[in-house]
Amino acid sequence: MPRDPRFDILFEPVRLGPVVAKNRFFQVPHCNGMGHAKPRAHAAMRGVKAEGGWAVVSTEEVEIHASSDLSPYVEGRLWDDRDLPALALLSDAVHAHGALAAIELVHGGMNASNQYSRDVAIAPSAIASPDSYTPSQARAMTKADIRAYRRWHRDAALRARRAGFDVIYVYAGHGLSLPMHFLQARHNRRTDEYGGSLVNRARLLRELIEDTKDAVGDTCAVAVRFAVDELRGADGIESSGEGREVVALLAELPDLWDVNVSDWANDSMPSRFAPEGFQEDKVRFVKSLTSKPVVGVGRFTSPDAMVSQIRRGVLDMIGAARPSIADPFLPRKIESGEQDDIRECIGCNICVSGDYTMTPIRCTQNPTMGEEWRKGWHPERLPPRTADDAFLIVGAGPAGLECARVLGRRGHAVVLAEATAELGGRVAREARLPGLAAWVRVRDYRVQQLNKMSTVEICRGSPVTADQVLEFGATRVVLATGSRWRVDGVGRANTDPVPGFGAGTVLTPDDVMEGREAASPVVVFDDDHYYLGAILAEKLRSAGLAVTLVTPAACASAWTVHTLEQHRIQQRLLDSGVAILANHNVKGYAGGTLRLACTYTGRESAIAAASVVTVTARVSNDALALELAALGARLATAGVVSVTTIGDALAPSTIAAAVYAGHRHAREFDAPESDAVPFLRELPTA
Ligand SMILES: Cc1cc2nc3c(=O)[nH]c(=O)nc-3n(C[C@H](O)[C@H](O)[C@H](O)COP(=O)(O)O)c2cc1C
Ligand code: SF4
Repeated sequence: MPRDPRFDILFEPVRLGPVVAKNRFFQVPHCNGMGHAKPRAHAAMRGVKAEGGWAVVSTEEVEIHASSDLSPYVEGRLWDDRDLPALALLSDAVHAHGALAAIELVHGGMNASNQYSRDVAIAPSAIASPDSYTPSQARAMTKADIRAYRRWHRDAALRARRAGFDVIYVYAGHGLSLPMHFLQARHNRRTDEYGGSLVNRARLLRELIEDTKDAVGDTCAVAVRFAVDELRGADGIESSGEGREVVALLAELPDLWDVNVSDWANDSMPSRFAPEGFQEDKVRFVKSLTSKPVVGVGRFTSPDAMVSQIRRGVLDMIGAARPSIADPFLPRKIESGEQDDIRECIGCNICVSGDYTMTPIRCTQNPTMGEEWRKGWHPERLPPRTADDAFLIVGAGPAGLECARVLGRRGHAVVLAEATAELGGRVAREARLPGLAAWVRVRDYRVQQLNKMSTVEICRGSPVTADQVLEFGATRVVLATGSRWRVDGVGRANTDPVPGFGAGTVLTPDDVMEGREAASPVVVFDDDHYYLGAILAEKLRSAGLAVTLVTPAACASAWTVHTLEQHRIQQRLLDSGVAILANHNVKGYAGGTLRLACTYTGRESAIAAASVVTVTARVSNDALALELAALGARLATAGVVSVTTIGDALAPSTIAAAVYAGHRHAREFDAPESDAVPFLRELPTA
């Protein structure tokens, strides 16, 4: 399809010092849990982004020295020449598709706990790491240390050029690097020419930019990533104050300004807490102070919003981390007039959890993310059909929808039967909860794709029985019937039912989402530890109920530290008047009283609860699977070759896991059975 002329401006080239970006799409640095440990997987992932049309494709944070060892987190590594081949794999993969390769050089300073290198961390002034409870401190850098650091940075820039990179970052963002620590008055208590006034605190950043330009600036663009606002008021850098002054001081020095807000949780803000383009107010001043191109971020998925950023003079290039993860082909889809096919990021931050759990990146919307090399999965290309199978998929939640989409794209005949009138399963229900509206994109993208496929038929309001399966005529049956929340309190903390749970005024999340009313005061017992317990507490509170969230964990929604949400979730609960009782388990419920016990001492207490919402665990909807299993040979006689249960119906998990399960089955159902490891591995060489 021809490109919509409204979007032409997005495809104008942009000069970045000595190099030219072919369009305005810039994949800004993002870590991925693969980094230096899985370089082939990492390179293939970046290569797919380049193929998808991003003019610049960046690495994540790349450690430049052993004293910046970010272990156990898996980032990039450029400690010496032995790291070059791995990084060259990446730049080659990016160049193969005509994009520029960028590298973000990082010294983490006090944020580098050096658990592998066992070096002593360094900082502008002696300090305990502000971001972790690691029981060690950073020492104050001497002038000799500063000189050494500048030398390491310069050497890293030279090595990066040898590894093939075109854009070299000096990184002063997120509070995660030395130049930023020097800028931050609260961390820089020096009394020499690197401390005190802003000009002094910005001296190191200036020197690094100059060093890098001097070392590689003739052939490489030198970019600065700078957090113009830390969103912590006068205690930090503010875009109306020092953030602005830093840009004014260094305005023409770099070839490109990449500006955002800090810290990471503020920058990669989930859709629950901020809309697309939310950083505009903080970064819009930058272009008025520099003639150099400016890139910024804000979970941009709408081409109209992108055009507006350029036309209104806010940004020159559209930076994206999460939108490029959810859809590596976003630029190409706009370029070819297929913007309606963009798989929009839902802002859930599951992608961030890969970094926190030190495992390859995964994405709710894009199940191929992180699988490009090890499974050979491409986000837009699928293996051809190998047989004339006809599929019956039961259940149109995230697993069923994705399975149908991929099978349909492979050319199979598919009937997708949904028992209810609504498609989307848990996604449709959960997207109606406070703050989760953007999550409905998981359903909408897939339904919109399915509607274009002549081989896929969607049947709403169609519960399926075992007898109907026998009569149906499908060769393969996929059960994606989802799960429902338990009411008996069984979960992580309780492996036996909780006395008094099971009925009456004890409600499950399904009950609340289906409109059953809870009575006040209500206790939300959260032994699930992800987002749902806190969101239900928020919903009940906003309906005027007195709400206490009880959890066996040390804080609300404990797992959401991995998605950068925990702090904000707890803050929102407290601000809205939800009481939080951490480190407590439930022991029993009777007569409007909930008995509790401290998870450490076992000491018992009681709390009044006219109702309880129990968020502990789910059970798979496996009734049809059991009925079909009982049919035995009758299935084969009816021509059914396989019955496979996927997603929450097999074992409840995240929406990302459900989408992955649907995708995997649709790609791999016809692969030969094997006990081999189902993906390629990168093994250490002896
Ligand atoms: C999974 C993930 C990893 C990230 N890692 C880095 C990183 O290594 N260095 C960095 O400067 N920013 C990192 N970021 C921040 C992004 O570059 C970006 O500024 C932020 O996500 C906002 O952009 P977005 O709304 O397009 O995602 C990361 C973001 C995500 C989602
Ligand atoms: S995991 Fe969620 S936030 Fe991250 S890119 Fe995918 S959809 Fe967006």
